[in-house]
Amino acid sequence: MYSAQWKSPSNIALIKYWGKYGNQLPRNPSVSFTLDSASTTTRVTLTEKNDKNGAHVDFLFEGQKNDAFASRIEKFLNSISNPYFPFIQDYRLRIESSNTFPHSSGIASSASGMSALALCLSDIQNQLTGTEDFSEAFYRHASVIARLGSGSASRSVFPFMAVWGTHPDIYESSDAYAIGIEEKIDPVFKTFHDDILIISPKEKSVSSTAGHQLMEGNPFAAPRYEQARQRMSALMVALSAGDIETFGRISEDEALTLHALMMCSDPSYILMEEGSLSVIKAIRQFRQDTKVPVYFTLDAGPNVHVLYPGEFSQQVDHFINSELKPYCHNGRIIHDKAGQGPQKIV
Ligand code: PMV
Repeated sequence: MYSAQWKSPSNIALIKYWGKYGNQLPRNPSVSFTLDSASTTTRVTLTEKNDKNGAHVDFLFEGQKNDAFASRIEKFLNSISNPYFPFIQDYRLRIESSNTFPHSSGIASSASGMSALALCLSDIQNQLTGTEDFSEAFYRHASVIARLGSGSASRSVFPFMAVWGTHPDIYESSDAYAIGIEEKIDPVFKTFHDDILIISPKEKSVSSTAGHQLMEGNPFAAPRYEQARQRMSALMVALSAGDIETFGRISEDEALTLHALMMCSDPSYILMEEGSLSVIKAIRQFRQDTKVPVYFTLDAGPNVHVLYPGEFSQQVDHFINSELKPYCHNGRIIHDKAGQGPQKIV
């Protein structure tokens, strides 16, 4: 019997991927922190099947059968079976998945979920072909598959930080897969914390898929993609030099740009809440008053990610608890940090 189990983390982008074309190809390069504790664990087990009429999936999420999810995954698997995983047509797949973060906590599970699934499928393909290859090529292949499931998932298969999307300054960067950049960054960035302030746990009113689509008609799209490329160059220099101030400035500018692009789409929409803005202002004020290097970023939603080097955790903890926690839904904060990347579970 063939089976594989992987735990794979979520990630938070600093340069944002917003706009895509073709088969999940990005309009601009992006870079992210790989997170540590927010993760998905997935086990895929193959059992016999007598027909070749397409993928057949039994899906259990947190121990509960979920048929709606199963048919979405079947559709995805049928789209990748040829040429990547022909075994999908030959076997029935039992997929069991669980997240470390609670459902409706405001954390998207597509990056961790799709990367965990991609790693399991790539691992099983190895087993079927009798290869024991867990080299760079294995992760690169898994990144391609994760990308086809959800663009940002391509970046979750590497430790600490990853770049997805072709950029002239970044050797081996590609639109097809992400690459790990652990060797290119100053060690201070490996100590970074990401405290996720849950301003609202509600589902987003506009999905990422719809958001990417709206970029196609956005009059600022072309200059935005150029801006992302330029910010990428500047951020890579800052990451390698340990320049936290430039890192922070670019990260905050990117977060606000992402939400500004939503506000000038047609139709326009707003995913920030009042609390998001209050928190952002308080972070900037605290930084100005104390000189503690604490910065924010945002995903496509109202929750605020608070980023800072590990050595400042005591001061920032105190600040968050006394000044930011009141803006959080039920005082909810998820404490995370830059992490080691996915893990095979044997
Ligand atoms: O991977 P998707 O299609 O859900 O898009 C994610 C887009 C952002 O999270 C907003 C930015 C990013 O680069 O992760």
